[in-house]
Amino acid sequence: MDRKWWKEAVVYQVYPRSFKDNDGDGVGDLKGIISKLDYIKSLGIDVVWLNPIYSSPNDDNGYDVSDYRNIMKDFGTMEDFDALLKGMHTRGIKLVMDLVANHSSDEHEWFKQSRSSRNNPYREYYHWWNAEKGKPPYRYSLFDVNHDAWRYDSLTNAYYLHYFSRKQPDLNWENPKLRNEVYGIMKFWADKGIDGFRLDAFQFAAKDTTFPAFPKGFEKNFTQYYGVQGNLHGYLQEMNREVLSKYNVMSVAEGAGNTFEDGHNLVDADRNELNMAYAFEGVDIAKPEGYSVIHLKQVFTKWDSAFAAKGWLSIFLANHDQARLVSRFGNDSPEFRAVSSKMLTTFLMTMRGTPYYYNGDELGMTNAGFSTIDDYRDVQTLNEYQRQKNIGADLPAYLKRIAFESRDNGRTPFQWNSTAHAGFTTGTPWIKVNPNYKSINAAAQEKDANSTLNYFRRIVKLRKDNLILVYGKYTLLDAQNPDTYAYTRELNGRKLLVLLNFTGKAASAQTGLDLSNATVLIGNYQKSSKNGALMPYEAVVYELK
Ligand code: NOJ
Repeated sequence: MDRKWWKEAVVYQVYPRSFKDNDGDGVGDLKGIISKLDYIKSLGIDVVWLNPIYSSPNDDNGYDVSDYRNIMKDFGTMEDFDALLKGMHTRGIKLVMDLVANHSSDEHEWFKQSRSSRNNPYREYYHWWNAEKGKPPYRYSLFDVNHDAWRYDSLTNAYYLHYFSRKQPDLNWENPKLRNEVYGIMKFWADKGIDGFRLDAFQFAAKDTTFPAFPKGFEKNFTQYYGVQGNLHGYLQEMNREVLSKYNVMSVAEGAGNTFEDGHNLVDADRNELNMAYAFEGVDIAKPEGYSVIHLKQVFTKWDSAFAAKGWLSIFLANHDQARLVSRFGNDSPEFRAVSSKMLTTFLMTMRGTPYYYNGDELGMTNAGFSTIDDYRDVQTLNEYQRQKNIGADLPAYLKRIAFESRDNGRTPFQWNSTAHAGFTTGTPWIKVNPNYKSINAAAQEKDANSTLNYFRRIVKLRKDNLILVYGKYTLLDAQNPDTYAYTRELNGRKLLVLLNFTGKAASAQTGLDLSNATVLIGNYQKSSKNGALMPYEAVVYELK
């Protein structure tokens, strides 16, 4: 077993805009996070991943960076950042920052220069298609109102490429100058002492700059055409040589490409690229009409097997790009919200791979319950609404869909207590607080030994105290059971069994294992099952003897 701190870590994701507002402007900030560091420490986690805090016009909540070496005004100053990092390190918490380098903001100086003339030295920092060549071959944009990734700019009579919004032009990784700029930025932050990078959308960074036509309808499966293309592995090896290998930092890519081979090559230690990647297949399973537990098991088991011998995986079911964990994968009704949250947390903390856990999920925070488009703030949700309107689609159906899956569901303010705006701000929050904060909040859960919050603390401790939960071999049992998820973890002669009921009714797991001498290490009911018969959403971890 090749021990590494980042394999043994539990990563807690802080979404700065919604975590804690210190200055009363309704937007979370760095001082707010500093004021909650003791809370973060009390969770027992050891790494914080912070979403982008760099200067940004906020078209996409900071994923449109206009200055990579400065702090967004809404969030504070570089002094605040230094204090935050120090506060984390004093408490033994490491900090991983987002590196947004597939694209910048259109308000970045590079882009301003680049668009100013065809022979500006920064022209080649981005992808341009001169209009006299005709229209460029169609590229799909994830956020554009028309889904068109090429935007015409009359200033130089050319189109620029943007896989995300119009205000997020794609950077040209084929240009060595641009690559060096990014490595310089990474060194700037690594020299400050940060502990890792999360490479935003990086699987899309390399492109075939001849821009060949893609088959009609390719956008239905666009990652096949965008993910891990061209010389991406070469760029990562260069980044590793230039930056990552020189610091004690972890690295994780968003997206693992299209195949096992892509995923593997990104994180195979012998190739010197990255430490970890996130594969999206698991998180994409949840649909408004529900999901198949058998399918979920297949996906997680398949990805585990891909990294059983080499490489390392991230384990997650929620983040700032997803609706809430309990609303998508569990059951947010008053009856089952807490118990199903705990069950999902048990799953995330007992799998092989590094768990990434999104702020607020430890409270069992739920989807926002927005019913009008005016409540939403997210560029993707709003632009898609406009598009649905333009094409005359069924808008009530769209509203229903986003109530289930919009990213804003996961971005409502953190629910600290039952005072106004959940104690998040003294001003007007940038996005509405979920009205259920009166009952679902951290202060109330602190006082309750059985709260989801205290369960989270217990299970994080269990993982930290038992290397078997990090490195132990994973074996799926009872694969065809449509209700339960059962697996063992084994290491150095020890064997644990995890039983999870993913449904709101009693269910039973057929593992063929004798539980009569088993000890319960943790469970989400006062009295755990001893014979594989599970109560609704029951989760239990046994040590087998
Ligand atoms: C992925 C990020 O997680 C998401 O929030 C963002 O909108 C896109 N990349 C574009 O940067």
